[in-house]
Amino acid sequence: MITARAHTNIALVKYWGKKDQKLIIPQTDSLSLTLNEFYADTGVEFRDNLTADDIEIDGQPVTGHSAEKVKDFLDHIRQISGNHNYAKVISTNHVPVSAGLASSASAFAALATAASKAAGLNLDRRSLSRLARRGSGSATRSIYGGLVEWHRGTDDQSSFAEPIMEKVDFGIEMIAILINTTKKKISSRQGMQSSVESSPYYPTWRKVVTHDMVAMKEAISNKDIDQIGHIAEENALRMHALTLSADPGYTYFNGDTIHAIQAINDLRSQGVSCYYTMDAGPNVKVIYDQKDRKKIVQYLGNLFGKERLIISQPGPGVEIIDK
Ligand code: DP6
Repeated sequence: MITARAHTNIALVKYWGKKDQKLIIPQTDSLSLTLNEFYADTGVEFRDNLTADDIEIDGQPVTGHSAEKVKDFLDHIRQISGNHNYAKVISTNHVPVSAGLASSASAFAALATAASKAAGLNLDRRSLSRLARRGSGSATRSIYGGLVEWHRGTDDQSSFAEPIMEKVDFGIEMIAILINTTKKKISSRQGMQSSVESSPYYPTWRKVVTHDMVAMKEAISNKDIDQIGHIAEENALRMHALTLSADPGYTYFNGDTIHAIQAINDLRSQGVSCYYTMDAGPNVKVIYDQKDRKKIVQYLGNLFGKERLIISQPGPGVEIIDK
């Protein structure tokens, strides 16, 4: 069995909408930070004695929609590799699944890497990034460590991620506040499609991202965490404005999300520089400089409980591991 470990990533400039739903070509570029705390280990073996793909995640056999997504992905690998055996897939997540902590990013980055190698392919990282994209858009970026840009491209060849700074050499960190780790009701896939189709603000979002990509790369080259945090926060709020303005409108926030946003604003008004971002779920991620970690953990720990805070540094790209 070939096993790969891939870490999840949190977007600082969000991907929210597809141009091509089958190939997962996004409407806009995006930019993320890979995290060391959250990862998936996925082992794959193609066996000639199997009569169907056999998929196990966190010790449970997988059925239904999730299994279909994995099987479609394996079908694609069979097609490009010429290895037509069914596969045994065993995956362990070190991420609260579907809680908006981007578990599909680490899952499909690990699956793409392990399955392509197990099928006899020897892909370079750009090809792995393109392959992971077909499982889940955000997985495109999890092939690389650190700060990563996904070029939206126009087709399968041109839509892939590239590292901006693989080894992050300044103090950026994230704290995930675990507000609710149950499965979300509206998947990011459904949510972003409804925004593309029904939010009157969608064309403006595209302009926002074009602007934010330039500003974010400038902030990264200056290693300016305040500027990075500020742009990421605005970008996240504007993404979430697309869900509120869709038809039917909805939100991924719950009361605790608002509570956390207010707490971070309060902390900032006390002079501690910290910023927030949210994905397709209620959890809040805090962006800050590690020199301020103590103050932030103390303040948020009092409000939410220290056990609900997960501190994470920048993490590495995908790798094959011995298991
Ligand atoms: C809010 O990558 O989960 O986390 O491509 O449909 O699988 P699919 O969507 P997914 O969406 C991620 C959305 C996001 C923003 C981001 O990671 O850029």
